[in-house]
Amino acid sequence: MEEMDFENRIVAPEYIADDSETEVSLRPKTLDEYIGQDKVKENLSIYIKAALLRHESLDHVLLYGPPGLGKTTLSGIIAREMGVNCRVTSGPAIEKQGDLVAILTNLNEGDVLFIDEIHRLSRSVEEILYPAMEDFSVDIIIGKGPSARSIRLDLPHFTLVGATTRSGQLTAPLRDRFGVLLRLELYTPEQLAGIIERSALILGIEIEHDGALEIASRSRGTPRIANRLLKRVRDIAQIEFNGIITEQVVQSALARFKIDELGLDEFDRKMLSTIINVYGGGPVGLDTLAAAMGEESITIEDVYEPYLMQIGFLSRTSRGRCATKLAYEHLGIAVNESTVQQSIF
Ligand code: ADE
Repeated sequence: MEEMDFENRIVAPEYIADDSETEVSLRPKTLDEYIGQDKVKENLSIYIKAALLRHESLDHVLLYGPPGLGKTTLSGIIAREMGVNCRVTSGPAIEKQGDLVAILTNLNEGDVLFIDEIHRLSRSVEEILYPAMEDFSVDIIIGKGPSARSIRLDLPHFTLVGATTRSGQLTAPLRDRFGVLLRLELYTPEQLAGIIERSALILGIEIEHDGALEIASRSRGTPRIANRLLKRVRDIAQIEFNGIITEQVVQSALARFKIDELGLDEFDRKMLSTIINVYGGGPVGLDTLAAAMGEESITIEDVYEPYLMQIGFLSRTSRGRCATKLAYEHLGIAVNESTVQQSIF
């Protein structure tokens, strides 16, 4: 069998280099242009209007949910709607306290500071953030030894927009300092079809509605994957067909990428078949499963599982992960009722 190339999954929801040329141009710039996440949009729109009315900066916002759903995009939209600039950084990029102090003191009044993967900030950097978020000030130590003294610097009022895959990964003191907590959810195929049609228009790609829906239903609820598949399918439409993306073109292209009708790739199928064939359908502990797959537990949990649970192929129980009857059926494996946990059906 061919080696599986898990490092280059076309359906990986994380940002990859191939996304860079188009991701920025496809990003909606206003809440009106932003498709889906209706609850999040509704709440944000109220908070933004209220803050503008009071001439205040917006309360700190925590965005959480699976990767690829538009957290960076939303942060840019928040800044634009508030009429301020957005400074973008990430937890792992801020190594020392001084790095964060430099960023904070260079902000302008009202600016948005977006920190992606905010759960990966070091403890010492996180401590700078507490007074910054609460009182818009930082304490810095000048000098060394007996002559060292602490001085307090006032910061401009700013809005911190933090992003993470799960709010539970944050320390309680950090989580408590966000006034607005918003959870992003996987998109429906209809919403994704809307996003794909919008992207196609911007990129000058001809696509039929059925073609857009076909890509959408294989994009695992994730706009980043939908836009990536759109570009890859376009290549095949141009070389092997007449350039127009139809349902049939999508089916032919995605068969080549070994992505099935539900957007599962070889990794997903391998994971489900491992649960079924090696662990009798489950329950199998997350760490055991991760070791068998050669992947980190946290990646399995945050990246692969949300979609498999959304489509009802996987259940998380207190004793571990179980493959459901739907997963057996999808993989064409007969359900052996005697060896499989009755409770999960
Ligand atoms: N591109 C990526 N995400 C989008 C969204 N939610 N709405 C519109 N276009 C998008």
